[in-house]
Formats: sequence, C-alpha cells, structure tokens
Amino acid sequence: MLKIVVCVSGGGTNLQAILDAIDSGKITNTEIMAVISNNAKAYALERARNHSIPALCMSPKRYPDRAAFNEAFMEKMKELNPDLIVLAGFLVAIPPAMVDAFEGRIINIHPALIPSFCGVGYYGLHVHEKALEYGVKVTGATVHFVDKGMDTGRIISQKAVYVQEGDTPEVLQRRVMEEAEWVLLPQAIDDIANGRIQLPEKKA
Ligand code: GRF
Repeated sequence: MLKIVVCVSGGGTNLQAILDAIDSGKITNTEIMAVISNNAKAYALERARNHSIPALCMSPKRYPDRAAFNEAFMEKMKELNPDLIVLAGFLVAIPPAMVDAFEGRIINIHPALIPSFCGVGYYGLHVHEKALEYGVKVTGATVHFVDKGMDTGRIISQKAVYVQEGDTPEVLQRRVMEEAEWVLLPQAIDDIANGRIQLPEKKA
C-alpha cells in the first residue's frame, strides 16, 4: 500500500481528482495519510475532512521565519513518513532538506508543458496568462519529480491541450485542468503505487 501525503494551497480540484480516482478504483493500492495546506482557508482541507482524511494547516505565517517553518514542516513530514509526497497546487517551496530526505519521492503537477512557462513566477493563473501572451497554440500539463530547482525535476508525464480562439486565462486554466491535470496526476500515482514507475529506496 502506497502511503501518500498531498500538499495543497487552494481549491483542491487536483486533490478531488485523486480522491475520486481512489473511490472509483482508478487508483489502487494507495492511501492518503494526510492533506497539508499552508492556507487554513483552503477548500482543499474541507475536501479532505469530507473523506475523513486528517487535514492539517502548516503556514509559514505562524512561524517567526522561514527557517523555523521549514524545520516544523520537515518534522511533521518525518513523523508522517509517507512513501510519496504529492504537490497538488502547493505554492510553498519545498525545503531543500525535505528534498534530500524524500529524494525521488516528491512529485508535482505543473499546468504547462515544461520547459515552457515554468520556473520562478509561473504559478496559478500567471502560467496561462503568459501562454496566451506568447500566443502558443498548444499548452498542457506536466507531472514531474521535485528536485531543488523550480520545476526542473525529471518529467514523469505530459499531456497536450489546444489553445482555442478567444481563450481567457481562466478558460484555458479550466481546460488544462479538465483535459490534462485531473488525468495525469491520478495516473502517475497509480503507476507509482503499482510499480510501473519505480521509486528509489526509502531513506530511514
Ligand atoms: C493547478 O492548476 C495546479 O497545476 C497549479 O495550481 C492549481 C491548483 O488547483 N499548480 P487546485 O487547488 O488543485 O484546484
């Protein structure tokens, strides 16, 4: 059984896609141990509670500085000790020590085809604003492993989505979610849970 922790910051539609996929049997062999949000008001926490999954808030704002937050976040993650950490719209940088401790065991969903429209400043709606500004005709989403860089880890899967005439950032964001993100992330988790994607040895 793959034990996962899902980290979220907002509405949690990607979390919902994971919950639905577990319920419907599209994801097997997987248990969500906890959902962690940096934002106490994130609707994602409600979605977790509705599924009787422990929902925790770990906000940098509640600590004197980033180092103190990173330490507490790391402590909590070590205590949970998941097999896999899934970043599903999580807007906080993962502390480098956590990347080391969970090397090759953290995955992220990014709403563009990496290496396009990624890196510093490319999060949320900005990604789609930039894609429209540039005038690309195809965008999409990427699931990748997390390393110490920003959106630089090894790519697991990608799915293309067409931009349509008259798209606004909001309309494009929704299409990328529906056609790519909600498909790719559950699929990646199921692939990992069932050994089609191998993870490195777990560190103690
Ligand atoms: C998604 O577009 C995700 O790719 C991005 O943030 C958004 C999160 O949406 N990083 P939700 O909270 O899963 O609804």
